[in-house]
Amino acid sequence: MTSFKERVFSGVQPTGNLHLGNYLGAIRRFVALQDDHDCIYCVVDLHAITLWQEPAELEKATREVTAAFLAAGIDAEKHIVFNQSRVAQHAELAWIFNCVARMGWLNRMTQFKEKAGKDRENASVGLFAYPTLMAADILAYRATHVPVGDDQKQHLELTRDIAQKFNNDFSERIAELGLGVEMMVGEEKVNGFFPLTEPLIEGPAPRVMSLRDGTKKMSKSDPSDLSRINLTDDADTIAKKVRKAKTDPQPLPSELEGLEGRPEAENLVTIFAALAETSRAAVISDFGGRQFSEFKPALAELAVEKLAPIAAEMRRISADHAYVDGVLRAGGERAAAEAEQTLAMARKIIGLLGN
Ligand code: TRP
Repeated sequence: MTSFKERVFSGVQPTGNLHLGNYLGAIRRFVALQDDHDCIYCVVDLHAITLWQEPAELEKATREVTAAFLAAGIDAEKHIVFNQSRVAQHAELAWIFNCVARMGWLNRMTQFKEKAGKDRENASVGLFAYPTLMAADILAYRATHVPVGDDQKQHLELTRDIAQKFNNDFSERIAELGLGVEMMVGEEKVNGFFPLTEPLIEGPAPRVMSLRDGTKKMSKSDPSDLSRINLTDDADTIAKKVRKAKTDPQPLPSELEGLEGRPEAENLVTIFAALAETSRAAVISDFGGRQFSEFKPALAELAVEKLAPIAAEMRRISADHAYVDGVLRAGGERAAAEAEQTLAMARKIIGLLGN
């Protein structure tokens, strides 16, 4: 009996400007994981179209996310980088999971409620089924670990529920075909075809807030461009945005607790710590008692040093359509070969003739 091979999968939606929050919260962790894991990083264009996307914008954003992956240091030869729609097995497995997941499970998803808003009758069916496609993304590769933000935890739980129900519903057939894999669930040894995938939420995945309002998340949809540092911003723009970031009139506190109730100060300290790869306490011990007029130039310099080279590389790569499209095509072919192995077994387990 074999056990599941450790494998990392994650996805980023191509829905417009990537910003500092996406970089620190996701992409930088993807880069770190590739040293000791097999990784598959996917630009999830099929998830993007659960909400309306202008076709030309979708193409542009897909190339931009890919360019950001590469510019940040993801190695598309050692690992796999591709866009989701190229690998039809994702949609196929999502359909199978639509028949495994229950309406009640999806009805509980908070992201659907948020995105659909008041007009639920008018939301796309795809927006409702979004989590089953996400489960398919992950389980098409029988990935064991998924780095995600806090907001995706519920979708990961659903992915585990789907895997578990599939494993239970088909347990006899899985055993008959000898396709069971042993795994530990807590203290218990169980056997199944799909792994119960773990989220990777630990590690420095800071919540990066708006530079104009420290109580709101940094967001691509904020009407003020000054509220975020885009991954495509040049050095001058990055420095200007840090200079113009909202603050309060107090100097920085000399203790971490002093940041409480000061969301803008807290956000800038968080960003500094994340970029410098140190703790917020260390930042406070360096800058405690100093004015923002001293702290901001230091932060601007650090942000430019860390981000401007990535931004420049990203602009260069995303302008080279032939190159980016070639990376996605090659990645897609490798991904499809992997996913097809899973699907061939899944079809057999279910009783779908096709192999
Ligand atoms: N839902 C994720 C997000 O919005 C994107 C995503 C799609 C994803 N499929 C995935 C993330 C699979 C991790 C694994 O951030």
